[in-house]
Amino acid sequence: MIKVKIGFVGTGRVGSTIAFTCIQQLDVDEIALIDIVENLAIGEAMDLSHAAAGLDKYPKIIGGSDYKLLRGSDIIVVTAGLGRTPDMTRLDLATKNAGIIKGVAKKIVQNSPKSKILVITNPVDLMTYIMWKESGKSRNEVFGMGNTLDSMRLKRILYEFTTKKIKKAWILGEHGNSMFISKGLIDVESFPDLDKILSNVRFAAAEVIRKKGATFYGPAIAAYRMINAVLNDTKEEIPASVVLDGEFGLKDIAIGVPIILGKNGVEKIVEYELTQEDLENLRNSANLLKEKLKELGY
Ligand code: LAC
Repeated sequence: MIKVKIGFVGTGRVGSTIAFTCIQQLDVDEIALIDIVENLAIGEAMDLSHAAAGLDKYPKIIGGSDYKLLRGSDIIVVTAGLGRTPDMTRLDLATKNAGIIKGVAKKIVQNSPKSKILVITNPVDLMTYIMWKESGKSRNEVFGMGNTLDSMRLKRILYEFTTKKIKKAWILGEHGNSMFISKGLIDVESFPDLDKILSNVRFAAAEVIRKKGATFYGPAIAAYRMINAVLNDTKEEIPASVVLDGEFGLKDIAIGVPIILGKNGVEKIVEYELTQEDLENLRNSANLLKEKLKELGY
């Protein structure tokens, strides 16, 4: 029987809430939690194992600081790094978190070279690129969660404006202030005041952070959807941060675009014919991210 194992690097509020969601929603044989604060990882592992028993589930759940615990993970979820405070943008975290991700990448490939890697740490597009570069893994094996969550927020805000459940409404580009609503991939004509809606989506996380210190339920569900797509090979079409190599005319950058996620990770980058406006917005995000990558030495 094939065993399903999820690894976590970083067990703060985001990492532990993702693990909690996975325990509830998925059939997992093993969960490994790594944190530099060893007792935090051990404590989370214990708490999660008690939660699982309440659902009549008894996966192996281990916690600690040793990356060996990750060995054999199908997918590793990386949330390690600093979170932002209300006065910071995601890009403000870049320098500190780049150093952390570089170290994490090396340790992951030393201990669990075959795992897919889901990057959550912000600024996620830059961290996805650095994870890919430093791990030496192929493009399909490293992907970042950003636009999935932005698109969930977009759906919610559209619902508030229209009381309609929109099936496909996507945010693409940077998971940050230059994100945009893809007008080519949604029937937007009928929606009022898209600029206001976009502004609400852009600053949704900052508002939550201002009020409760961090976002974690939204990120957890978004990450769970991506993990589920990989573990259960759902081939779900999802917007996520991936390294481009010529797609949409962009190269050597990770940015949010539509992809198909399945057991091989990024099975396909879906190159829709975007509208001119979407393409310009995507290029604008890409230029911004490229500049930041340069500053970081990439
Ligand atoms: C957010 C963080 C994950 O958007 O960037 O909530």
